[in-house]
Amino acid sequence: MARTPFVAGNWKMNHTRALARAWCATFRELYAAHPWPAEVEVGVAPPFTTLEALHDALGKLPVLLGAQNAHHEPKGAFTGEIAPDMLVEAGCAFVILGHSERRHLFGEPDERIARKVAAVRRAGMTPVLCVGETEPERDEGRMQAVVESQLRKGLEHFRPATGDQLVLAYEPVWAIGTGRTATPEQAQDAQRFLRDALAGLCGAPVAHGVRILYGGSVTPANAATLIAQPDVDGFLVGGASLDAGGFHKLVLAAAG
Ligand code: PGA
Repeated sequence: MARTPFVAGNWKMNHTRALARAWCATFRELYAAHPWPAEVEVGVAPPFTTLEALHDALGKLPVLLGAQNAHHEPKGAFTGEIAPDMLVEAGCAFVILGHSERRHLFGEPDERIARKVAAVRRAGMTPVLCVGETEPERDEGRMQAVVESQLRKGLEHFRPATGDQLVLAYEPVWAIGTGRTATPEQAQDAQRFLRDALAGLCGAPVAHGVRILYGGSVTPANAATLIAQPDVDGFLVGGASLDAGGFHKLVLAAAG
């Protein structure tokens, strides 16, 4: 059975509520003129303070709302953090976890990411678990060891029983925001490896159903060749998701 492509925008710390509403108005017009096929899933993860405005602005557009992070506890004295149920209340369907910026700029260890994955799943949302090697790690021939370890440790507290409970994103750190996209062969090679590693943890039928996104300088120009790879099931898109027109083109390119 074919996996449903998923294209998710990660706005990072960009777009106020006003900009999100403007983005949405343009995106709605583009969708009306050129809708993507129903079998493609599209999502956007804005900053926390923009969630509610974007939720309202999206209305009935078939776009899933996502968050860029969550805490693993349901409530309590955790200044500055947001609980999974709060994100559900804001309309979120998925949460990006273990993004390289969280790992490298904010020092998030695998152990904490694993707790977040389990908590997000318990709240009924889909965790989008990101893994990826740095440039020195790739140069030293350690790509597989790094992503396998991030995957295994990230799933320490949650093992998917079906393919739709989890999304993975392979995001080589050297490709994020650099304009240096992985080649289709590099993406396929890493993502095939990840699917095999997942099969070792959860069994082949579950691994077969889990979508593995590619992330790192995806653009409307390179999306089609990347998604043509058998283990590239969609994209996690940073910079190219900020412009509604560019993101719409990218979604159409991914839809084939
Ligand atoms: P980019 O970011 O598309 O700007 O490279 C991808 C990501 O960080 O998810």
